[in-house]
Amino acid sequence: MAYHYEMLFFLYYLIGLSALQGLNAVEYQAFNYASGTTGGTRFDTQIGVEYSREKLKSASEFIWQTFRQTSETERKSVQSVSLFVETMADGMNGWHGVPAYAVNNEIHVNATYIEVYKGDVNREITGILYHEVTHVWQWDGNGQPGAGVLIEGVADFIRLKAGYAPSHWVKPGEGNSWDQGYDVTAHFLDYCDGLKNGFVAELNAKMKTAYSAQFFVELLGKTVDQLWADYKAKYGN
Ligand SMILES: *[C@@H]1O[C@H](CO)[C@@H](O)[C@H](O)[C@H]1NC(C)=O
Repeated sequence: MAYHYEMLFFLYYLIGLSALQGLNAVEYQAFNYASGTTGGTRFDTQIGVEYSREKLKSASEFIWQTFRQTSETERKSVQSVSLFVETMADGMNGWHGVPAYAVNNEIHVNATYIEVYKGDVNREITGILYHEVTHVWQWDGNGQPGAGVLIEGVADFIRLKAGYAPSHWVKPGEGNSWDQGYDVTAHFLDYCDGLKNGFVAELNAKMKTAYSAQFFVELLGKTVDQLWADYKAKYGN
């Protein structure tokens, strides 16, 4: 009799555990809304919804790891991440040449960009996914002035660390100023992360509530301009 009760208890325990995990799990979804178009077909044959779903998940895990967010309470509260491949007519929202964008945990990928991309489109879109998934999880400095360039710099830093920097990016040490954003800022952040392991994770954590260039002083003991000068000197510029 006792044996049966134990079994029953164990069963309840298992059910409870899986319910809990189900509650906390992030849902990943991908849709091709451009199927039938040349770009949509190229997406299906060279990338695919199943692969994209897997990448949304592995990118998220990579980002949490890089941000050193070991527990869920440290992360942004996000229940699902979705990807849509869709036609984005040139000039939509006043945009030109935008490959993808993220809004409200949704990532939208430009099907025409997939169509006309020259080279390994799977690798390119995977890199873009790492960048866009970062936008889903990173803190935004509460929308304060100056945060935008770091938001884009951190997203490209993640793409760089994941091994998906494209060949058209600037090389380390290149660029005119630390706040050019994107690849220029990404390489600079990589330099800063080399000075202090986990710098980008700490910077992101600080950006939960605010943004200030003073964060560089607080974390590395130097102004961002001094750090940029050191960085340029290191590469002989
Ligand atoms: C979508 O991609 C194409 C090809 O790169 C580009 O010409 C177009 O401007 C992009 N759409 C937007 C809204 O940026």
